[in-house]
Amino acid sequence: MRIGVLTGGGDCPGLNAVIRAVVRKGVKEYGYEFVGFRDGWKGPLEGLTMPLGIEETRGILPRGGTILGSSRTNPFKIENGVERIKENLEKMGIDALVAIGGEDTLGVATKLDALGVKVVGVPKTIDNDLNNTDYTFGFDTSVNIAVEAIDRLHTTAESHHRALIVEVMGRHAGWIALHSGIAGGAACILIPEVKFSVDKVCEWVNSRFKSSYAPIIVIAEGAIPQDGDMIVKDQTLDSFGHVKLSGIGEWLAGQIEEKTGKEARTSVLGHIQRGGSPTAFDRVLATRFGLHAITAIHDGDYGKMVALHGTNIERVPLASATTQLKLVNPELYAEAQVFFG
Ligand code: F6P
Repeated sequence: MRIGVLTGGGDCPGLNAVIRAVVRKGVKEYGYEFVGFRDGWKGPLEGLTMPLGIEETRGILPRGGTILGSSRTNPFKIENGVERIKENLEKMGIDALVAIGGEDTLGVATKLDALGVKVVGVPKTIDNDLNNTDYTFGFDTSVNIAVEAIDRLHTTAESHHRALIVEVMGRHAGWIALHSGIAGGAACILIPEVKFSVDKVCEWVNSRFKSSYAPIIVIAEGAIPQDGDMIVKDQTLDSFGHVKLSGIGEWLAGQIEEKTGKEARTSVLGHIQRGGSPTAFDRVLATRFGLHAITAIHDGDYGKMVALHGTNIERVPLASATTQLKLVNPELYAEAQVFFG
């Protein structure tokens, strides 16, 4: 069998570990041949490939990014996109695809599966917002990066008696903010799922200053103030059609300065959260996902995504992962609130 592999959407640490595991087991146990598709769905769409064998995947386990490249190309938004993908797969003799991605990439995989393309999905995103899997790989690494940043910001905030705001990624889901905020001892955590009151945030800021301590506020890029809309720097869209986020941290700093008279500054962690080497947890999870994905292909169990349930890797329908997002539930957020202020 000839298997195509692609990585789509925002990159994240652990992608190379999946690719390595898929190829290693596919070649060694099943005698498969692999084709690497470049840059997400753009690869099969435009016939952009690279060789992918045990040689090409040696030494990539600890490397961040993806040796295949990534993009947010959506073939359903391109004229004859789906037909072109099907034609190219046939021309290249590709029997099945392993698609490694988040909501958008696997959303495309779900639709292609319904149109007869043989595909198995692997859940990736630092945002951890894919449904029907306990965790996605990349999330643990980004949380650890954010926690290190928060630890560092604590000491400088205290020296200067400032409020420091850390803006982390998380468009619709506040998982990174919640986990890094709890682990980093934040004075408050603001997530997209629960609109926040600026006055309440200012109360928490003042209360932290009262105990001669400087507040760190962790805010997800998609957090929304109670009396307003999502704040973005500009209205430009990425190629999947999402507005580019960031700006809420800066806006909140202005509000805090105005309402409390305390100096407030913002650090936007941005793509630092997505770069570099994966944690051991993510390496293991990504490796296990890769091993199970190629076994699903071997079993002919297409239209599935490998998922983490407890400590087991199981197969779930692709659609169950992409039709709704996994958001932070209010009870979990309430647990963290005891530390606010
Ligand atoms: O989808 C993952 C993610 O990291 C989001 O949290 C973030 O909004 C987005 O990607 C940023 O994407 P880009 O790299 O295209 O700016």
